[in-house]
Amino acid sequence: MNNKHNTCGFSTRAIHHGYDPKDHHGALVPPIYLSATFAFPTVEYGAACFAGEASGHFYTRISNPTLALLESRMATLENGEAAVAFSSGMGAIAATFWTLLRPGDEVIVSQTLYGCTFALLHHGIGEFGIKVRHVDLTDLAALQAALSPATRMIYCETPANPNLRLIDIAAVARLAHQQPNVTVVVDNTYCTPYLQRPLELGADVVVHSATKYLSGHGDITAGIAVSNQALAQRIRLQGLKDLTGAVMSPQDASLLMRGLKTLALRMDRHCSNAQALAEALQAHPAVESVIYPGLRSFPQYELATRQMKLPGGMIAFELKGGIETGRRFMNALQLFTRAVSLGDAESLAQHPASMTHSTYTPEQLAQHGISEGLVRLSVGLEDVADLLADVDQALAKCARASVRKAAMAPSAVR
Ligand SMILES: Cc1ncc(COP(=O)(O)O)c(C=O)c1O
Repeated sequence: MNNKHNTCGFSTRAIHHGYDPKDHHGALVPPIYLSATFAFPTVEYGAACFAGEASGHFYTRISNPTLALLESRMATLENGEAAVAFSSGMGAIAATFWTLLRPGDEVIVSQTLYGCTFALLHHGIGEFGIKVRHVDLTDLAALQAALSPATRMIYCETPANPNLRLIDIAAVARLAHQQPNVTVVVDNTYCTPYLQRPLELGADVVVHSATKYLSGHGDITAGIAVSNQALAQRIRLQGLKDLTGAVMSPQDASLLMRGLKTLALRMDRHCSNAQALAEALQAHPAVESVIYPGLRSFPQYELATRQMKLPGGMIAFELKGGIETGRRFMNALQLFTRAVSLGDAESLAQHPASMTHSTYTPEQLAQHGISEGLVRLSVGLEDVADLLADVDQALAKCARASVRKAAMAPSAVR
């Protein structure tokens, strides 16, 4: 693989790393190798491949030249040694769990997690003899107290989906690594390596839903795990090859590499649009509270500025009047699309408690800091003036409806 861009900047590597048109008939865009299987020159060579004694591609569920190029780009962008591509973020997370955890092990996880990760822990690995312990990882004393000789993994999202709570990755990794055999795994979906690189802060594995910002156009589902060579090889040969089979298609790898080329540009725009919207929401009288790492009112503002290059493109907020007003607001949006997922060019709005996090019971939602009234925005790449106007008109409709409702209430009539 051509690595002459190793010392270049982020975007140069996102565009060029590992590829030279000279090696591919001058093709500017890397070709897509659709082949599921690869020819062995001899039977002996094939056997050596299977024994891990010869390098080379032999079956796409294990490796493929298009996937290998994508993996090398993701590894360099996250500053890891190696990456493994998956057909979804859940594929990457499930393969990492199943590879690194065994019955009798304990995994410490942060309080708030994406709904399907929560479900995988509680209805998947948790039912196969692995103990799942939720700990407030913002409280290092609580983490210290929870660590036990059986702890094998600490897992978190930062910022967490959907309430944007941050975890101090360096502090958690320092504490975790005082004990042997503890792997720190960070879901970096909300930030991408452009905004935050957990491996540089001491984490051992980074996982992504590449369905989101990394691909950026809402047209694939994809996942990535990045780590050192040894861990990546285990995740590939156990988690990917045997335990999940969740292999990414070469076409999707090509689309994902196309997305990576504009990642830095897109993230800058997502962040500046989100900052403007968060400030406008915060100043609006109909809004109860806004959670956005770029606001000075954000409780972990100092950590956000230290750990993240920019505050990201996701906002969570609550309206006065709770979820009833929140629903009215979402239904009134005209430019924002009512949809789950995030990180697309299109701005999206959704209600975590009844959608992405409906895998939690109402009690669990309360326990894990996901308020019923929370509305989640994924701020897209549209012109910020149009986004502001859309939110403004939707808030105005909510206010008019509230006034009508108050006028019709029996106490107002009297
Ligand atoms: C933070 C986070 N991690 C993981 C996932 C799962 O990714 P996928 O939908 O690609 O399986 C999601 C999906 O929304 C997510 O938001």
